[in-house]
Amino acid sequence: MTSDPTLRASPRPGSVLVTGGAGFIGCALAERLAPLADRWVVLDNLHPQVHAVSERPAALHDAAQLVVGDVTDPAAWDSLLTGFRPDVVVHLAAETGTAQSLSESSRHGRVNVVGTTELLDGLTRAGVVPAQLVLTSSRAVYGEGTWRRADGSRFQPGARTHAQLAAGLWDFPDAEHLPNSAAETVPAPSSVYGSTKLAQEHILSSWAGSHDTSLSVLRLQNVYGVGQSLTNPYTGIVSLFSQMARGGRSIPLYEDGEITRDFVFIDDVADALVAAIASPPERFRLVDVGTGTRTTIRDLARTVADFHGAPAPHVTGQFRDGDVRHAACDITETLGALDWSPRWGLADGIAALQGWIAQQAAAEAPTSG
Ligand SMILES: NC(=O)c1ccc[n+]([C@@H]2O[C@H](COP(=O)([O-])OP(=O)(O)OC[C@H]3O[C@@H](n4cnc5c(N)ncnc54)[C@H](O)[C@@H]3O)[C@@H](O)[C@H]2O)c1
Repeated sequence: MTSDPTLRASPRPGSVLVTGGAGFIGCALAERLAPLADRWVVLDNLHPQVHAVSERPAALHDAAQLVVGDVTDPAAWDSLLTGFRPDVVVHLAAETGTAQSLSESSRHGRVNVVGTTELLDGLTRAGVVPAQLVLTSSRAVYGEGTWRRADGSRFQPGARTHAQLAAGLWDFPDAEHLPNSAAETVPAPSSVYGSTKLAQEHILSSWAGSHDTSLSVLRLQNVYGVGQSLTNPYTGIVSLFSQMARGGRSIPLYEDGEITRDFVFIDDVADALVAAIASPPERFRLVDVGTGTRTTIRDLARTVADFHGAPAPHVTGQFRDGDVRHAACDITETLGALDWSPRWGLADGIAALQGWIAQQAAAEAPTSG
């Protein structure tokens, strides 16, 4: 852990390449670091599922140079890496729909897995070994994680089956879910998305190991907040709930409403990335990034509904294949590994998000006269 506060305040990242850097997390990271970098280059295909309009997002810092291109395209890599030797590569580009990944597996595999190997092949062809690689992995790699029975014994139940969910058997009986931890929980993804994120970890780790370069992997919990796509129906439950409640609708709750997640505000995630970049590990670092607090979907929905004076949320009993019952993490090790700690509580984060959504709506509203 670095104790030098100036390092955190002004890391000198050199030349930085950020794949998917025009998205939610990429824009928040650029806001903090792009003005400090020698060069900040974003490779992003402005995916239509994420970007309502195919143009440079207003939220992307002016200091960032946007190159529109696809991480799966070798020609995009060759053209980008001609004359550009990044010191740091932050790999954010990904297909991110958990449920979608079960019906569009190849799309997820192509972008998340092959897109990662194309990145490495592009670096190899250009003869570039960045001093540091950073990957945003996901809590999805844990799947249902580890559970503890009343007698203290632990087990990893694996994915919930479709039949189990169709019968309304949401939980694993007489057991409780333990917070996921990179040091202890063996990954067992229950979605293709989670599997591709785990593959990304392994692929980058193999390459970084044999090229003697540094790799930080941050397994992010559910990130929410200002700047998340409001039009992507496949990700961003807090934004989705917020828009329903703003519209005066009762929020539908899947399963019995007792699904839990660790909702971490975008600023805390961007700060964790900054801290990781500011102090690269010699070889490899794997950390969980969340708040360490679990919230039920019911409580999340109630807080959002109360904010807008919307009708109470209602349980629908619907479910999504591939969704895990519980996701939360233990951040104790992360607090030791990074000069970082989460600062945003859920209520404040939700309030900030509602303010931003209102601004977006006002900006889009037709002006009279
Ligand atoms: N947001 C979360 O809750 C969360 C949680 C865990 C992990 N992550 C990971 O963090 C990363 C960033 O997520 P985000 O929330 O900013 O998502 P996002 O969808 O807002 O941003 C992803 C960006 O990648 C771009 N992209 C997609 N496919 C691409 C391709 N083939 N080539 C080039 N660019 C492409 C998109 O246009 C978008 O700008 C992803 O790797 C995701 O798996 C996010």
